Amino acid sequence: MKFSFGASTKGFTHIRFTEEVRGTARLVREGTSEHLEIGTGKRSEVSQRTFIILIRSIVQAAKRVRVKKISFDASAFAFLKMEEAELASLIAQNLLMANYEYTAYKTKPKEGFKQVEEVCIIGSNKAFQAGIKKGVAIGEEVNACRTLANTPGGDMTPKTLAKAAKFAVTGLPVSVRTLGVPEMQKLGMGAILGVGKGSETPPTFTIMEYKGGTGAPIVLAGKGITFDSGGINLKSGDGHEMHMDMSGAASVIHAVALAARLKSKKHVIGLIPAAENMPGGGALRPHDILKSLSGKTIEVINTDAEGRLVLADALTYAKRFKPSVVLDVATLTGSSMSALGLYASALLTRDEKLAAQLLTLSETSGDYLWRLPLWDEYESSVKSTFADVANCVSGSAGRYAGATNGGMFLWQFAKELECPWAHLDTAPRMTSAPGDELAKGAAGEPVRLLYAFIEQ
Ligand code: BES
Ligand code: ZN
Ligand code: ZN
Repeated sequence: MKFSFGASTKGFTHIRFTEEVRGTARLVREGTSEHLEIGTGKRSEVSQRTFIILIRSIVQAAKRVRVKKISFDASAFAFLKMEEAELASLIAQNLLMANYEYTAYKTKPKEGFKQVEEVCIIGSNKAFQAGIKKGVAIGEEVNACRTLANTPGGDMTPKTLAKAAKFAVTGLPVSVRTLGVPEMQKLGMGAILGVGKGSETPPTFTIMEYKGGTGAPIVLAGKGITFDSGGINLKSGDGHEMHMDMSGAASVIHAVALAARLKSKKHVIGLIPAAENMPGGGALRPHDILKSLSGKTIEVINTDAEGRLVLADALTYAKRFKPSVVLDVATLTGSSMSALGLYASALLTRDEKLAAQLLTLSETSGDYLWRLPLWDEYESSVKSTFADVANCVSGSAGRYAGATNGGMFLWQFAKELECPWAHLDTAPRMTSAPGDELAKGAAGEPVRLLYAFIEQ
C-alpha cells in the first residue's frame, strides 16, 4: 500500500463519510466518477476505539468492491480532536493492518489478490504527513509480525525463528546473537533445553540489542514455541493453531525492529527463547525435574505448560543486562481466554506504576490489556513436593485461575530481577476476532503497545 499526498482526487475513488450507521459502505457512481460512502455513525459517538475499526472498514469495503486506489480528506477526522500526527499515524497503521492478508502459500489469482494499492490524502500538512510516515513503519512491522506468526510450524523452527530475528533488522543498527544447544548447556539453561528435548529441531536462544541511548535497557522477552503439541501431555482435538505459539517472540522481534527503524533514543534488548514442544522419544515426561538457569529446580507437572519454562530461563538471563524494566510476552494460557474472551490480553504485574502505564498505553495503542491478580494468596499454585517450584497445579484445582498461576510461576524468576516486571498473556489476542476488520490468522499484537512503551 502506497501513500501519496495530493490536492486532486482524480484517478482515485474518493471516500465520503456520512453519519449513517457505522460500517455502512456504498459505492456511488456519478457519470464517469465514483466515490465510496462510509458510515461513521454519529460523529459525537466516535471514540478512538471505534475510529480504529472504522479506518479498517474503509479498506475492507474497498477490497469488497475491488477498488484499488482511494483518497480522502485529511480533515475528515478533525472532529476527533486528536493531535494531527497521532491521528495520521493511527490512520496509516490501521489501513495497512486491514490491507494485510497472508498469501505466502496461495497461488496468485489472475486478477491478483484483493488489495488497496494506493491511498491519496487530500489537503494534509507537514505534521499529518510525518504521522503517516510513522504509522506506515508501525503498520508494516505489525504485519511482518503477523507473517512470522502465520508461518506453519513445519517451516518455522527455532532455527528459522532465530534467522527471522536477524532478517527483521537487516540494515538497522541492531546486533543479533543466537545461542545453540552447546552454549545453552554450558550456561545451564535446563528449562528451555528440557522443553526442546522431544523435538528433532533443537532450541535456540536469540539476543537482539538496539542501543539508541545509554543507560539501563528495557528488556523484552517473547515466548517462542514454534509449535506446541502439548508434549507428552498431548493436546487433543484440532483447532489449536499452535504454530502461532511463537507470537510473543514475533512481537518482540518486530518491536525491536520498529524502535530501530524509528530511531528511538532508548536502549532495548529482545530475548527470544525458542523451542518446539513435541512428544518425541527424548521428550520431557510429567514429573521430570529440570534445573533452570536460576539454579531453581522445576517439577514438570504438565508438559503442556512449556511456555513458562522457556521464559523462566529468559527472565534469569535478563538479569545480566541490569535492566530498568522487563516485560515478557507470551501466548501462555487458554485460561486467559476463558477469563477475558477475544478482545483483551491479560496483564499481570506486582508493580502498580507499571500497571497504570501499560493500561493507559494499551488504550491509546489499540493493543488492549486487562489486569488479572498476582497476589501472594496465589503463590501456593507453584508449590512442588520434590522440586523448588512446580510448573502448574496438579489435579482439579488446576482448573482455576490458570492465567494467574502462569504469572505466579514466572514471578518466582522475575522476583530476582530487582526491577519492575510485567507479564502479558496474549493468548486472547493471538488471532484476530470477529469485528476486528482484520484478515483471519495472527493479529500481530502487541507490537504497537511494546513500541509505545519503549517510546515512553
Ligand atoms: N500455548 C498454550 C496456551 C494457548 C492456548 C495459547 C490457546 C493460545 C491459545 C500453552 O502452552 C498451554 O498449553 N497452556 C496450558 C497450561 C496448563 C497445562 C497449565 C493451558 O492453558 O491449558
Ligand atoms: Zn502448552
Ligand atoms: Zn504453549
